[in-house]
Amino acid sequence: MTTTPRLTVKNLSTSFPTEDGLVRSVADVSFSILPGKTTAIVGESGSGKSVTSLTLMRLLPKTANAQVDGSTAFVTREGNTVDLLSLAEREMRSLRGNQLAMIFQEPMTSLNPVFTIGEQIAESVRLHKGLDRKAALAHALRMLELVEIPAAARRLHEYPHQLSGGMRQRVMIALAMACDPTLLIADEPTTALDVTIQAQILELMRRLQAETGMSILFITHNLGVVAHHADDVVVMYAGRVVESAPVRPLFASPEHPYTQGLLACLPGKAHLCGGAKPKRLFAIRGQMSSPLAPPPGCAFEPRCDHAVEACRQAIPPLVETHPDRQARCIRVPAMHTLARAA
Ligand SMILES: Nc1ncnc2c1ncn2[C@@H]1O[C@H](COP(=O)(O)OP(=O)(O)OP(=O)(O)O)[C@@H](O)[C@H]1O
Ligand SMILES: [Mg+2]
Repeated sequence: MTTTPRLTVKNLSTSFPTEDGLVRSVADVSFSILPGKTTAIVGESGSGKSVTSLTLMRLLPKTANAQVDGSTAFVTREGNTVDLLSLAEREMRSLRGNQLAMIFQEPMTSLNPVFTIGEQIAESVRLHKGLDRKAALAHALRMLELVEIPAAARRLHEYPHQLSGGMRQRVMIALAMACDPTLLIADEPTTALDVTIQAQILELMRRLQAETGMSILFITHNLGVVAHHADDVVVMYAGRVVESAPVRPLFASPEHPYTQGLLACLPGKAHLCGGAKPKRLFAIRGQMSSPLAPPPGCAFEPRCDHAVEACRQAIPPLVETHPDRQARCIRVPAMHTLARAA
């Protein structure tokens, strides 16, 4: 029996008109997230991860005049299927911060500096759950305890600037979790934190997921985190999906040369990078091309050691390589044929 995904995204594209031309930040992106599972989007800076999540949440700045195309199917808590992209703004507002929550890399973007932590969480539950002030504050306290903030009763009355970075991140998670979301979008939620705190926050998110059954869209450039926390992985390059697969097969046998490059440079796999300990996670030669001047063919071709003339001719299609795997590389189907013949 196949499970209906919590969210299905189909052919999502987001472009921005700029003085220099149209910036195609996200092009034809499709993926899904199962109930209670985590789908990770991974890719280097500028690959379109944040634009994807902000498009889904309908939080792109109005001034950007984004052109959005594609469709989504989000299954609400009540069992209705809605398209986040075409929902009326009023309905979207009632989903956001409620069934649909988002946490950002920088907690100060979602915390208001002039209100206490308790007031902010309480306001959200008052708005979405209709609790009165006292009940909402009691709920806020429970949320702070849930995310393991020490001396929660005292912290409730403090302002965001009085907390450490790790504590602020926990408060942001408490705020996101306050209305019991069915889908949490986490955009680089721990990148700014040191490694120990990062591990604690990721563990916390995992525990909350196990307890609540929420789905998570996890956005990161850190493949180590993906290996431990994702069920399914979407690899993005220059705005497009170049590979998608369940986490184990992706790590065991990456198919796209970009994914192979990313994995080869993971700490602990240094032998695959010529023996040298990689200084950076992304030690793939060259740079991603500008979204204003993409190459005519495969966007990764200028950096790919396996490129052939045909790669420069046309953008390769995303093809199914196994029942639950896809890759966007013209060489991949040929490699499978060769492997079968051998
Ligand atoms: N409002 C905008 N106007 C024009 N271009 C934009 C706008 N917002 C984003 N972009 C461009 O879209 C592309 C994708 O940006 P995005 O922020 O999604 O990258 P990212 O994968 O999240 O990167 P990072 O890992 O650095 O967070 C970039 O080239 C960026 O410059
Ligand atoms: Mg980003």
